[in-house]
Amino acid sequence: MARILITSALPYINGVKHLGNLVGSMLPADAYARYCRAQGHEVLLICATDEHGTPAELAAAAAGQSVADYCAELWAIQKRLGDGFRLSFDHFGRSSSERNHKLTQHLAGRLADAGLIEEREEEQVYSNADGRYLPDRYIEGTCPNCGYERARGDQCENCTKQLNPTDLIDPRSAISGSTDLEVRKTKHLYLKQSAMRQRLSDWIDSKKDWPLLTTSIARKWLNEGDGLQDRGITRDLDWGIPVKRGDQTWPGMQGKVFYVWFDAPIEYIAATAEWADATGQDDAAWQRWWREDLGAGDVRYVQFMAKDNVPFHTLSFPVTIMGANFDGEEPWKLVDYIKGFNWLTYEGGKFSTSQGRGVFMDQALDILPSDYWRWWLLSNAPEGSDSDFTWGGFQTGVNKDLADVLGNFVSRVTKFCRSKFGEEVPPGGEYGAAEAAVVAELTKRLKAYEANWEAMEIRKAASELRAIWVVGNEYLQSAAPWAAFKEDPQRAAATVRFALNLVRLYAALSHPFLPDTAEAMLAALGLEQAEWPKDIGTALDALPPGHAFTVPDNLFAKISDEMRAEMEARFAGE
Ligand code: 2FM
Ligand code: ZN
Repeated sequence: MARILITSALPYINGVKHLGNLVGSMLPADAYARYCRAQGHEVLLICATDEHGTPAELAAAAAGQSVADYCAELWAIQKRLGDGFRLSFDHFGRSSSERNHKLTQHLAGRLADAGLIEEREEEQVYSNADGRYLPDRYIEGTCPNCGYERARGDQCENCTKQLNPTDLIDPRSAISGSTDLEVRKTKHLYLKQSAMRQRLSDWIDSKKDWPLLTTSIARKWLNEGDGLQDRGITRDLDWGIPVKRGDQTWPGMQGKVFYVWFDAPIEYIAATAEWADATGQDDAAWQRWWREDLGAGDVRYVQFMAKDNVPFHTLSFPVTIMGANFDGEEPWKLVDYIKGFNWLTYEGGKFSTSQGRGVFMDQALDILPSDYWRWWLLSNAPEGSDSDFTWGGFQTGVNKDLADVLGNFVSRVTKFCRSKFGEEVPPGGEYGAAEAAVVAELTKRLKAYEANWEAMEIRKAASELRAIWVVGNEYLQSAAPWAAFKEDPQRAAATVRFALNLVRLYAALSHPFLPDTAEAMLAALGLEQAEWPKDIGTALDALPPGHAFTVPDNLFAKISDEMRAEMEARFAGE
């Protein structure tokens, strides 16, 4: 049994997230956590809303609300939707929490003590038309690195380079489009990332098992051009964490807040403290996940995120973590493995809130139960490359995999048994060669399924699970208890008993992908839980003759061509 800390990238507070956001971190983190729990590991799964920065301010203004009220409301909405998708977070926190204020200020103080923070007079873009400073992502312009014309002031979406707003060529306000911008002088704190270049580089080099997607992005920014740049970690904004050095004021920094990308990853830790608070535990309870000197030495820490987040998690946040331990007094936990994702597109293009293009989490749950979405999204997760959501593909995935294979199997077995033997696992007959062959095949497939999960190869895990379901269908088809029943009812009974045991096994194995369906399958078998199989032969002998069950409602309804067409039209955008 191991201890595994899992974090999902924190969704921005401003608005309901779309299916691409969901599959880019939160959903795979949940599925992996469920798998790890099923293995008997001690797991802590943490997420939170990322509440600071200009987007939150602007969204609140557009909604006519104070930022605090807006964030509280959107947090509740995101929490409810996360629950709706069965995201099994141990805690879903808020980066605006008191815990995060304190910890962010504390870590900034430690970095200053380490000599890693420098005050710089900076030129900051002020928009006369908007009457405010335009921080980071609210300035658009051409990327100096790749020439992309819609690069944002914090990062170029096209080449992932981290930018400072004044790096942009031909800048304009993303709020008003105004080019009436002036540069004003203001003082800010810089994190001297460059001083940590060698350490970061050695650390990345030591991560032999990390996927290329992750290490190549990190290496690119470590080695290209002048190497890793220092980074401004404060902003002239109202909403955010006030710049303090621990609990001391920071001279010259009154009225400024920390940059959202400085405090957001710190919220991974702070949210764990929020979890301890919410569950009535003391500080030791969260520190044993995060402090190597306080019990986290044996924790394996895994992060899930989309690829644009990778530079912040391989470079910036590690500078905070390593830098804060400059004197060996505060060994915070560094990430052990980063699982990065490419993009999910929608019918060949981008999801867009403003154009109403694509499906968002609230809409999805109004249309179909969460397991339908979970299955398609996870079995098509954008791992090796981008993947594209189409209603046609979704229809095929749901109808073929879920309805025709898993749903059909469960329905046939339970209905046949009810009609011939009643609603109890039938006695009689013996397992023979056909059953032995299934046990052998599933033993092999279970190993592969587990190996895929261990490697966090989610699409491969889904294919293997599908194959495991198919084995049951094929078994039933060739054993044909409906035909055997007349001449050899004992044989038919053994077949049905074996197949009912397969239902139980499938519930256990499907649970990381399909938690509600797994629960419904178990409920039909009168079980609350089915442990992960250690041995397939034993697992398929678990339900004894006489064990009562009920026929469940159809587990999945098929998606019709009409529905597909209707949905295509509804979500196509303007
Ligand atoms: O890209 C995003 O959606 C960010 N809100 C992710 C933050 S992850 C962590 F560092 F907080
Ligand atoms: Zn670029």
